[in-house]
Amino acid sequence: MTEATTTARHSLWSEAIPHGRFPALTGETAVDVAVVGGGITGITTALLLKRAGLRVAVVEADRVGSGVSGNNTAKVTALQSTVYSTIERKHNAEVASDYAHGNMAAVKRVAALVSEERLDCDLHRMPAYTLAFDERELAAVEEEGTAGIKAGLPLSRDRGELMGVPFPVAGAVRLDDQLVIHPVKYVRGLAEAVDGDGSRVYEGSRVQGVEDGRPCRVHTDRGTVVAERVVIATHYPILDRGLYFARLEPVRAYCIAARLRSGTPPTGLAISAGSPSWSLARHGDLLIVAGRSHPTGSSEGDPYGGLIAFAERHWDVAEVTHRWSAQDPTSYDNLPMIGSYMPGSTTLYCATGFMKWGLSNGTMAAELLTDLVVGRANRLTATFSPHRLTLGATPKLAKLNAKVAVDLVGDRLRSAEVGSVADVPVGAARVVRDGTGKAGVYRDEAGGVHGVSLRCTHLGCMVRFNDAERSWDCPCHGSRFDVDGAVLEGPATKPLPRRDPA
Ligand SMILES: Cc1cc2nc3c(=O)[nH]c(=O)nc-3n(C[C@H](O)[C@H](O)[C@H](O)COP(=O)(O)OP(=O)(O)OC[C@H]3O[C@@H](n4cnc5c(N)ncnc54)[C@H](O)[C@@H]3O)c2cc1C
Ligand code: FES
Repeated sequence: MTEATTTARHSLWSEAIPHGRFPALTGETAVDVAVVGGGITGITTALLLKRAGLRVAVVEADRVGSGVSGNNTAKVTALQSTVYSTIERKHNAEVASDYAHGNMAAVKRVAALVSEERLDCDLHRMPAYTLAFDERELAAVEEEGTAGIKAGLPLSRDRGELMGVPFPVAGAVRLDDQLVIHPVKYVRGLAEAVDGDGSRVYEGSRVQGVEDGRPCRVHTDRGTVVAERVVIATHYPILDRGLYFARLEPVRAYCIAARLRSGTPPTGLAISAGSPSWSLARHGDLLIVAGRSHPTGSSEGDPYGGLIAFAERHWDVAEVTHRWSAQDPTSYDNLPMIGSYMPGSTTLYCATGFMKWGLSNGTMAAELLTDLVVGRANRLTATFSPHRLTLGATPKLAKLNAKVAVDLVGDRLRSAEVGSVADVPVGAARVVRDGTGKAGVYRDEAGGVHGVSLRCTHLGCMVRFNDAERSWDCPCHGSRFDVDGAVLEGPATKPLPRRDPA
């Protein structure tokens, strides 16, 4: 099992992940449906399929809940920044209404699963807000209020009085009765319900490839699942089919949790409408602040420092207790992609593109995927089909692909180079000439040297060092590797080869 070096592993929630609860996949096992990925999407899908009478096997590369589902701000809400005005602009009011319908149902489904499965996952109900810090952001909030109400959300406008933040707010829209959960306890609780009665959960088992067919075969290093159908719920799709790589952009963001000396964290779930956007939440008496988004592989500066400065500007911070980060893919047309992996496929399915709102979108995806697998009609199928074509979003598509094309042929975001390994400072990474090529070299605090090839094992872009996370990140499709080359996040499934430059 990968021992990650990224600080993302110290999220507020990841402490709840035990080692060794579920076994690794070995040998061959046959089920009705294989689900690749043990995050909220894969595990919820597996549970709903099991409830529909199918035998499922979940195959998770690391540990259940260790992906983005264990590294977020834990809000389960249908009010998501300015998503409704964005969708109405890029699509139309009907699509925005489908999004609202799916997400409101997902919030209800999460609460229902907590109660039905008797999950101990710190669920609390709170209002959610999209707020304007100042008059400049107010127009976006007003527009969101109008689009959200038109989409069917019971929103109220207020000035954030109930939000409990220690700074003036120019205006806000509010959606009552939303949820916060402990996402790891929630996902792992659902995994316990999946495992048993002919269904299994496997951890520490990275899928290397899937053979489509009747049946399909899902391969890891040590075992194979044979299944009639396969759901790829790896957050960024791992299979090099269906042109997902051309339509998704992974966006990374950072979070801190802080203990306060005096005052209290917000009493609602808040996110600001402007750019940069600030997201605020609480867990018990801890304040959570998130933000500083950027496309993966292009980090600059000190994102955690920026979050801490924001928290200290507004609250009496005694101690920053946790720092973590994660990434989520955004699709070119700002809608999740949920359905058949390739057009017309009835064997391979996927769900991705949750734009940092996958606790509800991943749950909505699980409902939709279950309906598709068992052959039930679902009104959201066409809206979220991965194969829709959104003409209005083609300029964004072209921009995305131009960026990837540049990253594929060159090192657009060059990491700093030095002449030899001896010049690599402690606690830093540099690019060092390695024979005819180049290697990425990190020097740890004890002086140990960790060298890797810089060529991403997915499609060959050059990886770049992320100082905040101590990882090699790929700007093309967001694969990430630790300093010894182990895969932290896909779509890559193979490690970076080790290098030992002189
Ligand atoms: C900073 C940040 C804050 C966020 N806050 C919120 C929030 O407050 N509310 C909200 O709704 N959403 C939030 N999100 C988004 C949300 O957390 C995600 O959209 C959601 O968790 C995605 O779930 P998932 O199951 O699709 O992916 P994941 O949880 O990442 O699960 C995918 C799993 O697949 C596994 N995997 C990958 N490759 C393989 C392979 N080859 N073989 C086997 N397994 C593999 C991974 O190890 C992982 O466990 C946030 C995102 C970010 C980045
Ligand atoms: S993630 Fe695709 S080339 Fe690196």
